[in-house]
Amino acid sequence: MSKTIYDRYQTGEIYDGKRAVWVPQPRQEEFMRRTEDEVLFGGAAGGGKSDALVIEALRQIKMPWYKGLILRRTYPQLKELIGKSRLFYPQIDPKAEFNKTEHTWYFSSGAQIIFGSMNNEDAKYNYQGQAYDYIAFDELTQFTFPMYDYLRSRNRPNGPGMRCYMRASANPGGIGHGWVKDMFITPAPPMTRMLKEVVVENDDGSVETRRMSRIFVPSKVKDNHALMRNDPNYIFRLAAMSEAEKKALLDGDWDSYIGQFFGEWKNDPDHYRDHVHTHVIEPFDPPEHWRYYRSFDWGFRKPFSCGWWAVDRDGVAYRIYEFYGCKRDRPDTGVELNASEVFAEIAKLERTHPYLRGREFIGVADPACWNRQTGKSVYQEAAEQGVVFTKGDNERVAGWIQCHERLKFGPDGRARVRIFKTCRDFIRTVPAVMADEHHAEDVDTTGEDHIADEFRYFCMRNPCAPMKRPPPDPRRKNPAHTYLDVPIEDL
Ligand SMILES: Nc1ncnc2c1ncn2[C@@H]1O[C@H](COP(=O)(O)OP(=O)(O)OP(=O)(O)O)[C@@H](O)[C@H]1O
Ligand SMILES: [Mg+2]
Repeated sequence: MSKTIYDRYQTGEIYDGKRAVWVPQPRQEEFMRRTEDEVLFGGAAGGGKSDALVIEALRQIKMPWYKGLILRRTYPQLKELIGKSRLFYPQIDPKAEFNKTEHTWYFSSGAQIIFGSMNNEDAKYNYQGQAYDYIAFDELTQFTFPMYDYLRSRNRPNGPGMRCYMRASANPGGIGHGWVKDMFITPAPPMTRMLKEVVVENDDGSVETRRMSRIFVPSKVKDNHALMRNDPNYIFRLAAMSEAEKKALLDGDWDSYIGQFFGEWKNDPDHYRDHVHTHVIEPFDPPEHWRYYRSFDWGFRKPFSCGWWAVDRDGVAYRIYEFYGCKRDRPDTGVELNASEVFAEIAKLERTHPYLRGREFIGVADPACWNRQTGKSVYQEAAEQGVVFTKGDNERVAGWIQCHERLKFGPDGRARVRIFKTCRDFIRTVPAVMADEHHAEDVDTTGEDHIADEFRYFCMRNPCAPMKRPPPDPRRKNPAHTYLDVPIEDL
């Protein structure tokens, strides 16, 4: 039975009147049939994500007022997508013209598809005052949340009868790994629709609340039969990569990814009680005779972070409570409270919270808190509320080494820092911190790194000795040898 125009429309197939120019593969078809406002496609390399985004943009080109926008983080990366469009768009509309300076396709109906890039956060304002019926982000994990969020306010109809929606592709890893995972991966299993209220800020400063539906459609290289046929070695090249790269790009594993700064991180709910091979643990009432610390990083437009730590007699640190000043549902956005309000709340928490009250805290804070631009410093504001800090050591690389030392698992499978599972923002942001591309020993400071910084001040205030290696196995003559020296019956 031949396909109807409606079938073709539903599946995203591109038909020039005589033959199919591009036929979606089963996974791509699933993606293109979705009706949710926001759909993330992917999770692994090579599944046919970029092709699907570029073709999806054509869906409404018969409407003269249609405007579609396809984004990549940088212009050179965008060239791959423009190349795809040059292959397919003229086949579907021979009169379509590509304007190289504007990176825009003009279709015979008057519809437009624009290819855009966003090098930095301010570049989002290049799209101010515009409306786009379709917005696609290729490699969403390379964008920051504010970029995505801003474009959400630009997703508006350009005329009557238009469908407005956003689509994105992504591989695990990249500066946006954390927020993309929180938004599309963690809240619901794949192929499960999520409904969420989002606050959209318009150009005129007004805010509106929209109910958005969202879904994650997974795709892996094996779903791309065309690629498997054309380049059977591709899958072997993915399999030969480093463990983190392989897990991310071949298996689509969102828990380990390329560029993750704290590669030691483990969050295993099966071990929340025995503390083995997990950093996250079940909370408990910490004994009053332990040592207590409070670490702090200041922020106004960006979040501030206050963490409370208990250290047991063996020197193991427990993050027992946190107060993170971040807007709900808006990662990396501060709550814009004055320092006096923040410290009043901190003082109150220390008087009333069952894990904190009656304890003496050693405070340590970002040394920038001692700066005085106008009026009082943040440090003075804190002191006035009875919250006292010492200056944190901001030797970044040494500080990160201390954080790694604490996160390492010892021979008994336990780490020297453990996080109460109620410290949700630590668990959300610290594993998502990325290494700096140009300086692997430091973190990429464009990410949401405030809790990581505050954790670093704590670690530097309370350094621990390098983890002892397990004693050499006396049965091995040469410790560098592996199991070959071990008697057969022990294997
Ligand atoms: N429906 C299709 N029909 C024929 N070829 C396809 C189809 N979908 C994708 N391909 C081809 O498979 C290859 C990989 O596709 P694509 O670039 O879209 O993958 P991707 O998931 O974006 O990969 P990456 O993760 O590397 O960005 C390309 O050569 C593309 O043209
Ligand atoms: Mg791609």
